[in-house]
Amino acid sequence: MKTIYLDNGATSWPKAPTVAPAVASFIADHAVNIGRGGYDRAYETAGRVQECRDKLGIFFGASDSRNVTFSLNVTHALNTLISGLFTSADHVLVSGMEHNAVMRPLTQLGIPYSLIPCTQEGSLQLEHIPSLITSRTKAIIISQASNVTGTIQPVREVVALAKRYGLWILIDAAQLPLSSTLSVVDDGIDAIAFTGHKSLLGPQGVGGMVLSDRLAHQLKPWATGGTGSKSDLLQMPDFLPDKFEAGTQNLPGIIGLSVALDFIKENRAPIINREQELTKLLLSHFLSDTRIKVVGPKGMTGRTSVVSVDFLSLDNAEVAYELFLDAGIETRVGLHCAPIAHRSLGTFPSGTVRFSLGYATTEQEIQDTIEACKRVLNRMHRR
Ligand code: ALA
Repeated sequence: MKTIYLDNGATSWPKAPTVAPAVASFIADHAVNIGRGGYDRAYETAGRVQECRDKLGIFFGASDSRNVTFSLNVTHALNTLISGLFTSADHVLVSGMEHNAVMRPLTQLGIPYSLIPCTQEGSLQLEHIPSLITSRTKAIIISQASNVTGTIQPVREVVALAKRYGLWILIDAAQLPLSSTLSVVDDGIDAIAFTGHKSLLGPQGVGGMVLSDRLAHQLKPWATGGTGSKSDLLQMPDFLPDKFEAGTQNLPGIIGLSVALDFIKENRAPIINREQELTKLLLSHFLSDTRIKVVGPKGMTGRTSVVSVDFLSLDNAEVAYELFLDAGIETRVGLHCAPIAHRSLGTFPSGTVRFSLGYATTEQEIQDTIEACKRVLNRMHRR
């Protein structure tokens, strides 16, 4: 069946064209462990992992590539940050657009938080921040861009406020737009938690965090275990990246991410332009149909290629399923693991249908999606 993949917010697909061959050949020929055995292939593999760390260090503006640490995904990185920095005696501010990757660790650990209110477009209302800060407030945690609406937050303004009040600033960059990447050093951020399998076009199962020097020293590890270094100690080594890399890492994933980063470096401008053009095309159709409400930014400024809509007076899940049956359109419907965001947007509990474009989405696919939306809505409204 022909499909139109518009669920890049969940994971990008297809991956960068170089990823599958690199991962397959690594598994076939080189997948030995690193930091354990003292033989040539182990050192060669360690070198390839270091290359990926170096590329990520440059991409996220780290002071040193050792400040880039790998994990299974952005959620693991956020768990490390939240559990390693705060106790139930502390308090943090989070945006009203947060994902459960932040909300569930805070809830599980009983860490008090306040939500920074957002506009109807999902943009943070910064003027509320000072009045939410208490003597116990330790940090501001925000998603760089919303996985529900694609809203890009004014991170640099939030960083300035965090600095003014002496707070840590932690960024969930799961949905990072290639058009506005952040730098730990230049933007004064304490931690960027990232994933490899979304806009970085790598495989699932690899993510990590990029830490400021100050935070790297204070943060306690969440997972502990073997690192292949300081094996005489029963505690984790206190140096980076080993302090935060217990157990064997996803080496095939790291190799795949490394070649995906090369692909992005070579194709960044065309990827950004294509995604923006096609998002504009889809958005303009949604805005022109009175049966559809766009939830989130209505224009192209301050948004990613994630577009959420509410199909008014219809069941969103039913529409999404009909779109799939009609033209093979693959979307994500519901709350997108972000109930707090949907509450802020007024779309809880019914949720939205999310269309998220990727670097390989074609104009024809977007035209087909628009035609399918018209057909499906005409049919469903006639019933
Ligand atoms: N958080 C991812 C999404 O938005 C999986 O779909």
